[in-house]
Amino acid sequence: MMRKLLLATLALGALIGTAKADPDNFDQVARGRYLATAGDCVACHTGSAGPGVAHAVPDLESSYGYAGGRAIETPFGQIKAANITPDRETGIGTWTADQFYTAMHHGQRPDGTHLYPAFPYTAYTNVTRDDSDAIFAYLRTLAPVQNAVDRNTLPFPFNIRMAMIGWNMLFFREGTFQPDTTKSAEWNRGAYLVEGLGHCGSCHTPKNFLGGDGDHLAGGELQAWYAPSLTADKRLGVGDWSEDEIVEYLRTGRNERAAAAGPMAEVVQYSTAKMTESDLKAMAVYLKQPAQAVQQASAPAPLAADNAQMRMGRAIYEDGCKACHTDSGQGIARMFPRLAGSQSVQQPGSESILRAVLQGAKAATTDMAPTGPAMPAFGWRLNDEQVAAVATYIRNSWGNAAPAVSTEDARKMRDRLADVVE
Ligand code: HEC
Ligand code: HEC
Ligand code: HEC
Repeated sequence: MMRKLLLATLALGALIGTAKADPDNFDQVARGRYLATAGDCVACHTGSAGPGVAHAVPDLESSYGYAGGRAIETPFGQIKAANITPDRETGIGTWTADQFYTAMHHGQRPDGTHLYPAFPYTAYTNVTRDDSDAIFAYLRTLAPVQNAVDRNTLPFPFNIRMAMIGWNMLFFREGTFQPDTTKSAEWNRGAYLVEGLGHCGSCHTPKNFLGGDGDHLAGGELQAWYAPSLTADKRLGVGDWSEDEIVEYLRTGRNERAAAAGPMAEVVQYSTAKMTESDLKAMAVYLKQPAQAVQQASAPAPLAADNAQMRMGRAIYEDGCKACHTDSGQGIARMFPRLAGSQSVQQPGSESILRAVLQGAKAATTDMAPTGPAMPAFGWRLNDEQVAAVATYIRNSWGNAAPAVSTEDARKMRDRLADVVE
C-alpha cells in the first residue's frame, strides 16, 4: 500500500516536473507566445527564410523568426543570434526548462559557457521563473528548424567567453524583479516589462567603453542611431509626454511628436504594437514616474540665428524640408514629425538626425497605422557641410537648443552608412 502510494507520488512528481513548461498546456503556451513578443526575441533571432534567402523578415507566425543567424552589431564586432527552435542538433531541442531559465537569468549555457550580453540577459534576469517557463513552453511548440549558426564571430580578445566572468562581476546585476510595495500594481507591471522583457535599457541606456551601463535610460548611441533619453526629464526625456502619447507611440510607431524609425520601428512592429493596451499603459506610467527623481537637464544656449552655419541651414530647410515639416517646425500630426520642441532632435548625439537627412526615413508600419509616410534621402544632393548645417539649424530653431553638428560628424556618418550592410 505504502509502496503504491510512493509510486503514485513519484509519477505525479514527474508530471509536475514536465508541467513546469508544457507545450501541450494551451494557456501556458499562449502566455509564453505573448511574453516572447514582449521580449522581441524575433528582432534578433530571426533566421534564414530558406535556401537562397539570407534573412527572413522577422516573422512571429513561423519558426523562422527563431531560427537564428542574424548578425547583431556591437562595438566589439558582430555576434550572431542563436537558433532557439527545438531542433536537437542546431537549436535548443535538448534543453530543459531549468537550463533555459539559467540562460535567461544567469546568461549561461547548459555546459556552463557564458553568453554575450548582445543577448539581453542583463535585462531578462528580471523575468520570473513562471514567465520563463511559459516562453520555453511556447518555443517548444515551434517546428524545429535545422540551421547551424557560427557562434564565435567576435575577434580576439572578445572571443574569449571566459572574459564574461569578469564583465559580469563588473556590470551584471543578477536577480528577479522585486516589486516596490509602495507603488501601484500598474507601476510594478510597467517596471517589470521595461526593465525585464522589454529590455528598453539595452538601447536607451548609454554604454561605457566596455559595454557596461551608464546613467539608466539616459539615452545613447547604437549602430549609428541615437536612442533618446527615456527618463522623466522634460526637455530630453518623456517627462513632457502624456501617458497617452507614450502609449500611442508604442502602439503605432508615431504620435503628434515623433515617428519611430530604424531599430525602434522594429521594436514597435514586432513587439509593442502587439502588446495589450494595459501593458503599454503600465510601461508609460512607470516611465513617467521613475523610482528615482530625475534632475531636469538645463538647456544649452541656442546658436544665434545669424551664425553662418545657421544661415546656410535655414536656406536648405526652406528649400528642402519646409514643405513637409512646415515653416514653424510643427510638422503635420502623425504624418510629418514635429521638429520644434522635439526631444529626439535635441539629444546630445545627432546620429539619428544625420541618418534621416542622409538616407531618408520610413516610419514603422503597424496594423493601427498601415502605410508609414516616408522621408526622401538628401545624401545625394547635399554635401557634408550642408547636411551639418541643416541638422544644426533644426537643433537650434523654434526654441530648440542643442550642440552644433560639424561637417566632420556628417562625413563620418556618411562613411558609416556606406559600410552598413542592411
Ligand atoms: C538584442 C538581440 C537579442 C534579443 C532581443 C534576444 N536575443 Fe537571444 N540571443 C542573442 C544573441 C546575439 C545570442 C548569442 C549570444 C552568444 O553567442 O553568446 C542569443 C542567445 C540566446 C540563447 C542561448 C542559445 C544557445 O544555444 O546558447 C537563448 C536561449 C536565447 N537567446 C533566448 C532568447 C529569448 C527567449 C528571447 C526573447 C525573450 C531572446 N533571446 C531575445 C540576441 C538576442
Ligand atoms: C533595439 C534598440 C531599442 C530598444 C530595445 C528600444 N528602443 Fe526605443 N528607440 C530606439 C531608437 C534608436 C530610437 C530613436 C528612433 C528614431 O529616431 O526614430 C528610439 C525611440 C524611442 C522613443 C521616442 C523618443 C523620442 O524622444 O522621440 C520612445 C518613447 C521609446 N523609444 C521607447 C522605448 C521603450 C518603452 C522600449 C522598451 C519597451 C524601447 N524604446 C526599446 C531604440 C530602441
Ligand atoms: C516629403 C516629406 C519630407 C521632407 C521633404 C523632409 N522630411 Fe523629414 N521626415 C518626414 C517623415 C515622414 C518623417 C518620419 C519618418 C520616420 O522617421 O519614421 C521624417 C523624419 C524626420 C526626422 C526625424 C524626426 C524624429 O522625430 O525622429 C528629422 C530630424 C527630419 N525628418 C528632418 C528633415 C530635414 C532636415 C529635412 C530637409 C533636409 C526633411 N526632414 C525633409 C518627411 C519629410
